[in-house]
Amino acid sequence: MQHETILVLDFGGQYNQLIARRVRDAGVYSVVKSYRTPLEEIRAAGYKGIIFTGGPNSVYADDSPRYDPAILSLGVPVLGICYGAQLMAWMLDGKVEPAACEYGKTQVQVTPDSLLFKGLAEKQRCWMSHTDYISRLPAGFRVTARSENCSCAAMEDAGRKLYAVQFHPEVNHTEHGEEMLKNFLFRVCGCQGDWKMSSFVDDTVQKIRTQIGSGKVLCALSGGVDSSVAAVMVSKAVGRQLTCIFVDHGLLRKDEGDMVEKMFTENYDINFIRVDAADRFLNKLAGVTDPEKKRKIIGEEFIRVFEEEAGKLGEVSYLVQGTIYPDVIESGTGSAAVIKSHHNVGGLPERMNLKLCEPLRDLFKDEVRRAGLELGLPYHMVWRQPFPGPGLAVRCIGALTRERLEILREADAIFREAITDAGLEKSVGQYFAVITDMRSVGVMGDARTYDYTIALRAVATTDFMTADWARLPLELLAEVSNRIVNEVPGVNRVVYDITSKPPATIEWE
Ligand code: XMP
Repeated sequence: MQHETILVLDFGGQYNQLIARRVRDAGVYSVVKSYRTPLEEIRAAGYKGIIFTGGPNSVYADDSPRYDPAILSLGVPVLGICYGAQLMAWMLDGKVEPAACEYGKTQVQVTPDSLLFKGLAEKQRCWMSHTDYISRLPAGFRVTARSENCSCAAMEDAGRKLYAVQFHPEVNHTEHGEEMLKNFLFRVCGCQGDWKMSSFVDDTVQKIRTQIGSGKVLCALSGGVDSSVAAVMVSKAVGRQLTCIFVDHGLLRKDEGDMVEKMFTENYDINFIRVDAADRFLNKLAGVTDPEKKRKIIGEEFIRVFEEEAGKLGEVSYLVQGTIYPDVIESGTGSAAVIKSHHNVGGLPERMNLKLCEPLRDLFKDEVRRAGLELGLPYHMVWRQPFPGPGLAVRCIGALTRERLEILREADAIFREAITDAGLEKSVGQYFAVITDMRSVGVMGDARTYDYTIALRAVATTDFMTADWARLPLELLAEVSNRIVNEVPGVNRVVYDITSKPPATIEWE
């Protein structure tokens, strides 16, 4: 193993990649693996430490994920979080029992002489979310934190380097969660912190080279941050073995197709093919209103186009996609529920002939941006706001028509221009217009109008898994509204979406 590595052993919780990401943020490489990974594989890998994640189960349920207790005797430090903590107690003959559910921000009293809590105040605000608790400690353990309702909010056997916390140090709601994780990494596991984004880039370039060998590769380039970073990374690995296919599906924003083509052909020595497939996509989508159906159709059509292009090039073996971690989790992995099938994951037809290369699959958006800067991509490109693969199709509610798409394009361009002019493009994570399928009555001059409603959406977010609606200046909203109704025919009403994610999602479909 090249870098010190922490294994995040996945027992089915929602925050598993977030734990891995917090560890990477602290400068230590980490990987997430299923609890089904054999013990021998874990032993052989030489991890510096292991973190058991949370999970939705109760350790006493027959189908709950468990692990061979021998993992606790490998001499590798272990930190159990939530379900992982209970599992550790259960594996070592402690006792876990149902409790009154403890959920939300909770005051926890910690023992500062524990290495895990070293340097921290005795009272902490921690995030709890559990229905079982550790009612009897395993032999050799002591309690190192408690809350009003939980007699064992943390326990440890420092001699064996086994630590467990009932709360979630990885989420921001835990005041000093970052310090606790760092204490585990640096004080307990003895890590030095030898990992940074440049290492990820170098290692991944190496891995891609080995994976792909001497074959030809296609990249699904959308011009967005994710696929652009993936393309440049693969190009660094295999040079002109790579051909980027940019599919103009007729669902791009105003002038976007030309801009992407210019950027890649002027800045990079990359085989670049632009496929004009607008008619093809719009025909397939005619009359379709269901969002999931739209995504599936677009996903499949994309792959068909790629397969055809691949056929023309001959002997292509891999398809590069800019899939990132939130795409994976929201399309459903193992026990996590499907929220939306992001077109680049859930919509992949079973019969696809190309193998996938997805170098950014474990990263969050802001990590992808850091990787992009490491690779030398221009700043304006790295900081482009995300744009979904299915494009304007998921921002045009109901059936797509060329006319409605054109209205949306114009309204969206006005909104984006106003945000840029106000210098807000970096503080607002994502901002766009949506054309609703609703028409309403208005008055223009002396005449009645019956036109579409445009919704404006702007959110503040860094991880795109949660988002808060952006408090844009009212004057800006007023100006955008005025301009849209005056300059875009077919619109007589503009509304602003003030819902956060959850419970809404960022896109409307
Ligand atoms: P939601 O709407 O799920 O969006 O809150 C989270 C982020 O993902 C983007 N998004 C997509 N990206 N293919 C993509 O590549 C998709 O099908 C897709 N759907 C949503 C969305 O723009 C936001 O940044």
